[in-house]
Amino acid sequence: MIDENRKRILVTGGAGFLGSHLCARLIAHGHDVLCVDNFYTGSKANIAHLLDKPRFELMRHDVTFPLYVEVDEIYNLACPASPVHYQHDPVQTTKTSVHGAINMLGLAKRVKAKILQASTSEVYGDPQVHPQPESYWGHVNPIGIRSCYDEGKRCAETLFFDYFRQHQLRIKVARIFNTYGPRMHPNDGRVVSNFIVQALRGDSLTVYGEGQQTRSFCYVSDLVDGLIRLMNSGDDFTGPVNLGNPGEFTILELAHKVIEVTRSTSVINYLPLPSDDPTQRQPIIELARQKLGWEPTVNLEQGLRYTVDYFRNLLERE
Ligand SMILES: NC(=O)c1ccc[n+]([C@@H]2O[C@H](COP(=O)([O-])OP(=O)(O)OC[C@H]3O[C@@H](n4cnc5c(N)ncnc54)[C@H](O)[C@@H]3O)[C@@H](O)[C@H]2O)c1
Repeated sequence: MIDENRKRILVTGGAGFLGSHLCARLIAHGHDVLCVDNFYTGSKANIAHLLDKPRFELMRHDVTFPLYVEVDEIYNLACPASPVHYQHDPVQTTKTSVHGAINMLGLAKRVKAKILQASTSEVYGDPQVHPQPESYWGHVNPIGIRSCYDEGKRCAETLFFDYFRQHQLRIKVARIFNTYGPRMHPNDGRVVSNFIVQALRGDSLTVYGEGQQTRSFCYVSDLVDGLIRLMNSGDDFTGPVNLGNPGEFTILELAHKVIEVTRSTSVINYLPLPSDDPTQRQPIIELARQKLGWEPTVNLEQGLRYTVDYFRNLLERE
């Protein structure tokens, strides 16, 4: 018997941090998942636990090239997400966002699939409005070293909305804010993984300036829940919609929490503040609350405990 609710779902970037959690959740919901990844920043280890599931399929493929498969839904997550990774080969980063979007939108059009774009809070650039609502157009440098990511993602959003207007595609655009959890890269320079690895190794935690700049941190299970709710929302809701945790913490508070959760003896090492370090990053999530009935449920301390357990195991195996 055919199960009407069982869908064939493509997840690009499915072997990455967010993608691997999304694939697992979709399989748990009873769907068939095709994970497409070129392993640029993702790894087989991230999806090793899914490889023997009959509903999971893995394909090595670069989204900058066209793809011909039969699917009902596409989650387009392929793109290196941390500055260290996306600045390593900036031309490839722009290609992945722009050519990747064109190829996946072309596929969605051919097979009439619904398609979701993993966009980012970075489309707001160095914002002059705090916190950021979806209606804010951003303040982005088009020629800087972050532009390959920020402008690539902005152009991808443009393509999604042009396919929506021109070809009546069913699109969804999520603007994801800082998310953390197990399977983050240990060396990608992001503050949560940096602090946890430093604390577990007993090294000092590097804080820039006085650590009074604030950030918000969304735990991965909450984010995945938001992405799925967005995909399942009515066809009249396209987004863009902010997905993130509005809870605001100073970097210094985060450092102390990590030291507490890891029970580390590490101390804090203060370094001068880099010039491009934003003082505040915080989402407004009213639209997600209203349209998706979504809000984060995992608090920072709980999320840090899960993440620390992961990194502790990882470092023990090194
Ligand atoms: N993690 C966050 O805090 C965050 C915040 C905002 C937006 N996002 C977006 O969410 C998505 C996933 O981010 P993540 O944190 O899981 O990063 P990640 O680097 O762990 O995952 C990205 C995945 O895409 C794959 N990939 C890269 N280029 C590709 C290509 N050309 N073809 C096929 N696969 C390719 C990588 O190998 C990797 O598996 C990205 O699009 C990112 O921009 C993430």
